[in-house]
Amino acid sequence: MDKVVLAYSGGLDTSVAIRWLHEKYHVDVIAVTIDVGNEKDFTAVKQKALKVGAIKAVVLDGKEDFVKYFVFPALQANALYEGQYPLATALSRPLMAKLLVDIAQSEGAVAIAHGCTGKGNDQVRFEVGINALAPEIKIIAPAREWGMTREETINYAKKFNIPIPVTKKSPYSFDENLWGKSAECGALEDPWVEPPADVYTWTKAPAEAPEKPQYVEIGFEKGIPVTLDGKEMDGIPLIMKMNEIVGKHGVGRIDHIENRVVGIKSREIYEAPAAVVLIQAHQALEDMVMAKDQLRFKQKVAVEVSDLIYNGFWFSQLNRDLAAYVLSSQRYVTGSVRIKLFKGTSTVVGRKSDWSLYNLSLATYDKGDKFNQEAAEGFIHLWGLPVKTQAQIQLLKDKEGPLSLMGKTEEE
Ligand code: ARG
Repeated sequence: MDKVVLAYSGGLDTSVAIRWLHEKYHVDVIAVTIDVGNEKDFTAVKQKALKVGAIKAVVLDGKEDFVKYFVFPALQANALYEGQYPLATALSRPLMAKLLVDIAQSEGAVAIAHGCTGKGNDQVRFEVGINALAPEIKIIAPAREWGMTREETINYAKKFNIPIPVTKKSPYSFDENLWGKSAECGALEDPWVEPPADVYTWTKAPAEAPEKPQYVEIGFEKGIPVTLDGKEMDGIPLIMKMNEIVGKHGVGRIDHIENRVVGIKSREIYEAPAAVVLIQAHQALEDMVMAKDQLRFKQKVAVEVSDLIYNGFWFSQLNRDLAAYVLSSQRYVTGSVRIKLFKGTSTVVGRKSDWSLYNLSLATYDKGDKFNQEAAEGFIHLWGLPVKTQAQIQLLKDKEGPLSLMGKTEEE
């Protein structure tokens, strides 16, 4: 029998998919579950896959690679899709695609299957990634093919003795990893409705957050966070600790109407406490050590990088080129940032770096001012020369005069 590798989450859909693939395509299923820092009992997930009929079930720990090759480069880029979403789910998919391909090749599988529906971005990311890495491997998307409603899926599960999660069914669809959690569906589909309190599981409601502010100090080396409150920490524990501390203060909630790859707008509720504050701190440090033109340019790169991560183009050469730029830009992004967390807000209250371009003797209004104020006169003369020249020839001769610039029209 041919073998198919299935990206297995342990949930109802992918469990049903194990059986469905067997019935429909007469294949043996190898279930692969990738740990990117989701809170899950992976032993139970593995056992469930076998119980439901997989011939083999593998759990891979992808956390190290996820942080090193995906999360931290995204942080260095300050990647936020549409300026808001730190891309947790999106970043995990190309890593999963790579690991699924590795296993499919070593097992001699003919196809890779995933549980995505036809409406989301994840199908795009998985398939573009798999097609890039192994064009010979076929892709099967059971949930896109089987046309079953939720009800019918449950009946299918009952028929084949597939355990249906007994825990009170959440009305939401969640996806989570170290970099953040996403929630969709249920009450969230009405964009006028405030997200019900039970959507949030990583962050405290700001009103219930501690009455006293907490300060955290994050130390960066070349754009990578390496210390927390002066203590050296590896990436994974640092991110986990940040999620905990920041979440406790009610920071990291994002309510985003986003533009999906497949052309629809969707309302997404994210919780990404560590991501939000680390990006904020990283940016604050960059503000201090990078020149104005570098900062301006890097903002544009951040938009490009975010779009291509979101759109599933991780394995494109453009991503590689931009990654090289981003890495190079981080040479002097070493220093510390102090953040104050308080009832749903996080504020940068201090930054320092040996590479700081902030020069007190140039910035001060107090004693010790080294700024040559007289030079300002000549500077402004030349700086404003094009505006002055043009005004004399055109603006001052307009019959409606300079006020036309203020939105006054001829009729008025
Ligand atoms: N909208 C987000 C994204 O496209 C989150 C997707 C969550 N995925 C999921 N299978 N629930 O990255």
